[in-house]
Amino acid sequence: MPHHDHPRRDHHSHDHHGHGHESAFEGPEEVARVVADGEIAIGYVGEVVGLLDHPVDSVVDIGSGPGVATLELARLLPEARVVALDSSASMIEALRERATAAGLTDRVQGRQVEIPEGLEGRADVDLVWASMSLHHVADEVAALRAVRETLSERGTVAIVEFGDQRELLPPGNDALGDRVENAYRRYFDEQSQHWHGDTPSDELAAMVGRAGLRVLSDHVSVITHQPPLDEAQRRYVTGSLMRARKQLEGLLTAADLDALERIARDPERADGPLLVSRRILLAGR
Ligand SMILES: C[S@@+](CC[C@H](N)C(=O)[O-])C[C@H]1O[C@@H](n2cnc3c(N)ncnc32)[C@H](O)[C@@H]1O
Repeated sequence: MPHHDHPRRDHHSHDHHGHGHESAFEGPEEVARVVADGEIAIGYVGEVVGLLDHPVDSVVDIGSGPGVATLELARLLPEARVVALDSSASMIEALRERATAAGLTDRVQGRQVEIPEGLEGRADVDLVWASMSLHHVADEVAALRAVRETLSERGTVAIVEFGDQRELLPPGNDALGDRVENAYRRYFDEQSQHWHGDTPSDELAAMVGRAGLRVLSDHVSVITHQPPLDEAQRRYVTGSLMRARKQLEGLLTAADLDALERIARDPERADGPLLVSRRILLAGR
């Protein structure tokens, strides 16, 4: 077996795509990218709603992005008022447009705020939805404590985060998949310093516990989109592999990076199926 050398990472050339830049999550391209990511994973909204064992009159979506999941929550929970919080002006503007187009402005509101700001003073929230956003927040435990304060007695916080990165690869790439998953763990460890500065990130369930919340369930779930994939899904397959190739530069060998690029460019890969893996953690007071 060849020895896998890991070239030294150049800390000035990190790819912060969508991660940490002040301008990240701004502009029409970012909105389109987050809309596509949201649509591919929209099934998780129904999965989480199906897991709740209590009525929901009030929802807060933290780091809502352009509101793909926000509006799905409003549709699936027709009694609920839904507040979307996001620090990006572009995302909140896109969310308002979506709410208007869906005729849901009476129940769906957007506010441009930096979490935990925007949570203060809120109470009796039955569902806090935090999808792919918590890892961006500077002090996650402080944010989770603020979330806890907003929850009603029966309330649930649903945290959706990256699942198993091996799902990016087609079957038959187990060894490469393991290396990609390990490299992503190191990528997030490194990024976490950049995102969180002096308040280092911890394992998700540990942070939830430190915030005084009780873990109700914690599992990894996979949504499978069967072929034929539509244009957006095909773009997602190629885009997520090319993004991995860029983000894992310096964390994988040149040969592995080449293999990722080859798979990304392989038309058969884009023929699907597309697997989307997410970790879903539910917690209460
Ligand atoms: C990857 S997107 C996720 C969007 C959506 N929740 C989804 O799952 O598709 C992350 C979102 O979190 C927002 N965000 C990042 N840090 C934030 C903070 N401190 N306060 C509020 N929103 C934040 C970003 O602007 C972005 O829209």
